[in-house]
Amino acid sequence: MKLSFLAAFALATVAPLASGYAIKGDAVNCRSGPGTSYSVKKTYKKGQNVSISCQQAGTSVSGNNIWDKTSDGCYVADYYVQTGVNGYVTSKCSSGSSSGSSGSYCKTLNQAGLSLIEKWEGFVSSPKPDPIGLPTVGYGHLCKQKNCAEVKYKFPLTKSTAQQLLNDDIPTYTKCLASYLNASKVKLNANQWAALTSWVFNNGCGNAKSSQLVKRLNNGENPNTVASQELPKWRLAGGRVLQGLVNRRADEVKLFKTASSKQAFPKCS
Ligand SMILES: *[C@@H]1O[C@H](CO)[C@@H](O)[C@H](O)[C@H]1NC(C)=O
Ligand SMILES: *[C@@H]1O[C@H](CO)[C@@H](O)[C@H](O)[C@H]1NC(C)=O
Repeated sequence: MKLSFLAAFALATVAPLASGYAIKGDAVNCRSGPGTSYSVKKTYKKGQNVSISCQQAGTSVSGNNIWDKTSDGCYVADYYVQTGVNGYVTSKCSSGSSSGSSGSYCKTLNQAGLSLIEKWEGFVSSPKPDPIGLPTVGYGHLCKQKNCAEVKYKFPLTKSTAQQLLNDDIPTYTKCLASYLNASKVKLNANQWAALTSWVFNNGCGNAKSSQLVKRLNNGENPNTVASQELPKWRLAGGRVLQGLVNRRADEVKLFKTASSKQAFPKCS
């Protein structure tokens, strides 16, 4: 149901690759983010050559906290890549934040937000058309290639690999949402953040960017008022009202208005 895949491609920056670095461990995991807690997307063999698109700090592996993003779009601990040095050999991965001050927002969602998305997207084990004919798999992952060939996990997905796929997809939406909000005007807690991300996940980054909802938040209006009034307007699919969307928006408003002491934007606590 998401129409944002083109926007996601447009956001991807093209950086020169540093290529031909050999993997120096047996079965080295390439993960969805720069740390050992991220899900494994791929495993490299010893001696396999990888290309590095950018590098950034992450969890420390044997005293080296640099993680290399490879041309496969996943991260390996630099410790396992033979770059010749324990320092940076190419450019740092950009945080993707336009203002610079909102770089520390929550990239991932709290469990309430993930559960809400899982509930409303529903579990699909192998690629099939959603209610308006767009091929999706897992929990609402919109296929970018034929038969969702870009998905790293084996079909049919299990609920566990579908959750990993959802976790891999979420940062695209938190990232675009963060880039549209004025960090000096808008402050959101973890539940508000999760509810809004569910909405962006469902409607796409482009629609969120031009929305009245984002405009009103940036004007400094009360977030609970804005969410209660604006979220329910997003109930159309293919030009008609879908009861499922009416209900999903009600769930999102409810989560949005549930108090939380955890901050998510512009800082993640
Ligand atoms: C990996 O790349 C290096 C440097 O480009 C090259 O010398 C080496 O033969 C390559 N190894 C493999 C297995 O392709
Ligand atoms: C964000 O809000 C601040 C404070 O009102 C304002 O000075 C700034 O111009 C705004 N930034 C953008 C990008 O609108």
